[in-house]
Amino acid sequence: MLSEQEKLDALLRLGTELNQVNDLDILLEHLLTVARRFVNADAGSFYLRKDDKFYFHLLQNDTMDNASDDQRIPLPGNIFRSPVKDDSIAGYVAKTGEFLNIVDVHEIPDGAPYRFNKNYDMQSGYRTCSMLTIPLNNKRGIPLGILQIINAKDRSGNIVQFVEKDEKMMFHFASIAAIALERAQMTRTLLLRMIRMAELRDPKETGAHVNRVGSFSVALYQKWAEKHDIPQEEIERWRDILRMAAMLHDAGKVGISDSILKKPGRLTDDERMIMNQHALFGAQLFNDMQSDFDEIACQVAINHHENWDGTGYPGHIDSATGEPLDGYRKPDGSARGKIGDETPIFGRIVKLADVFDALSSQRCYKPAWDEEKVLRIIQEDSGTAFDPELVEIFMENLDTIRLIQQRYKDESQDEV
Ligand code: C2E
Ligand code: SIN
Ligand code: SIN
Ligand code: FE
Ligand code: FE
Repeated sequence: MLSEQEKLDALLRLGTELNQVNDLDILLEHLLTVARRFVNADAGSFYLRKDDKFYFHLLQNDTMDNASDDQRIPLPGNIFRSPVKDDSIAGYVAKTGEFLNIVDVHEIPDGAPYRFNKNYDMQSGYRTCSMLTIPLNNKRGIPLGILQIINAKDRSGNIVQFVEKDEKMMFHFASIAAIALERAQMTRTLLLRMIRMAELRDPKETGAHVNRVGSFSVALYQKWAEKHDIPQEEIERWRDILRMAAMLHDAGKVGISDSILKKPGRLTDDERMIMNQHALFGAQLFNDMQSDFDEIACQVAINHHENWDGTGYPGHIDSATGEPLDGYRKPDGSARGKIGDETPIFGRIVKLADVFDALSSQRCYKPAWDEEKVLRIIQEDSGTAFDPELVEIFMENLDTIRLIQQRYKDESQDEV
C-alpha cells in the first residue's frame, strides 16, 4: 500500500509520466493500474466513448488474475460489444457527469436511478462490492471515458468501502488522466487522417488497398508469432500498431512529385531512383520515435522494399539522414541491401502483403492479375524477394487472405 506522501509524489509525477505515453491502449492500461494503486483497489474497468456511446474497454482484476486457469471464466462477449445501458452505473455516470461512490453494489436501493448488472459476478464467480465510478471529462465537460475502481482493500486485504480521501485523490487523478486521454485520442485521430491523406495523394493507394495491406499484415503476423511461441498477450499488443503502420507503408509517397507518382507507363531509371526514396521519406515522417507506433511505422516504411536475398532497397541506411551506415557501404558508396532477417519481421511481412496486393490489383502501370498468376509469382519469389517462411504461412492461410479481399473490395474502377 502506498503512503500518503508516496501518493502525493505519484500524483505530481503522473502528468509528466502519462504525457510520455502515446499509444492509447497502453495509456489506458497504465491509467487503470495507477488509479487502482492509489486507492488500493482489487479490480477496475475502463469504459471508452466511441461516437456518442460508451463501451467496456478494459478490465483489471488481481483476484481473478491470480486464480488458477480452470477457475477463470472469460467475460461474455456481449459485455464488450454492446454500449453501456443508461441505467447501468457507468451509463448513469456518463449521462450525468457525476462521480459515484457506492459502498456495496449489491445493496443499491430500488429507487436509485442506476442498477448493478449482476451478470458479471454471476458468470465470473467474482464478488464486486465497493465501487468508485469517475468520469474523465475534457475541458468542455464532455466525458471521454469512465473509470471504475472496484473493491477497496484495507491493510489485511479485507474488502472495505472507498472513503472521502479516496474520492479526493481520484478527483485529481481524473483531471490529469483526462488530459492524457484526450491527447492520446487526438494522436490516433491524426494518424487516421494521415492515412486518408496518403490515400488522396496516391490514387492507386486506395482505402481498400491500404486496409487490405493492414489486415493481411496482421493475419500473417498472428500466424508467424504463434509459430515462434510469442505469447498471445504480446501479439495483441502489436496488432493495432502493426495495422496502422502497415496502412502507412507508402506514406512517404507524399514526397514524390505527381509526374512520377501518377505516370501511366513504366518509370525510367532516373524516375525509379526518385520513386525509391519514398521508403526513406516515410521513415523520416516517424523517426522521432516518440512511441512504439512511431518506431514500428518507421521500421515498416524503411524496410518494406528490402528483398530476402539482399537485392532490395534502400538497404542499411540511417533512417534520419538516408546516409549508408558505416560498414555497409558497397564499393560504389551506396548502401548494401538487407539480407534475410536483417530486415525486421514487420518489414518482411508488409513487403509480402503489399506486393501480393499490388499484383492482385490494377495499377496505372499494370492490369490486375488473376489469383493463380499472382500466387505463382509469390511462390517463385520465395527466398529471393520474400522470407520463405512467410510465403509458406501465406499459402497455408489463403482462406483468411481471401476473406480479407472480400471484406475490402475495390470500388468500381471509375470511382478509384
Ligand atoms: P506499388 O504499385 O504499390 O507496388 C508495390 C510493389 O509491388 C512494387 O514495389 C513491386 O515490388 C510489386 N509490383 C507491383 N507491380 C508489379 C509487377 O507488375 N510485377 C512484379 N513482379 N512486381 C510488382 P516497387 O517495384 O519497389 O515499386 C514501388 C512503387 O513504385 C510502386 O508501388 C509504384 O507506386 C511505383 N512504380 C513502380 N514501377 C512503376 C512503373 O513502372 N510505373 C509507375 N507509374 N510507377 C511505378
Ligand atoms: C513494375 O512495373 O514495377 C513491375 C514490372 C514487372 O516486373 O513485371
Ligand atoms: C521493376 O521492374 O522496376 C522492379 C519491380 C519488380 O518486379 O519487383
Ligand atoms: Fe512502397
Ligand atoms: Fe502499396
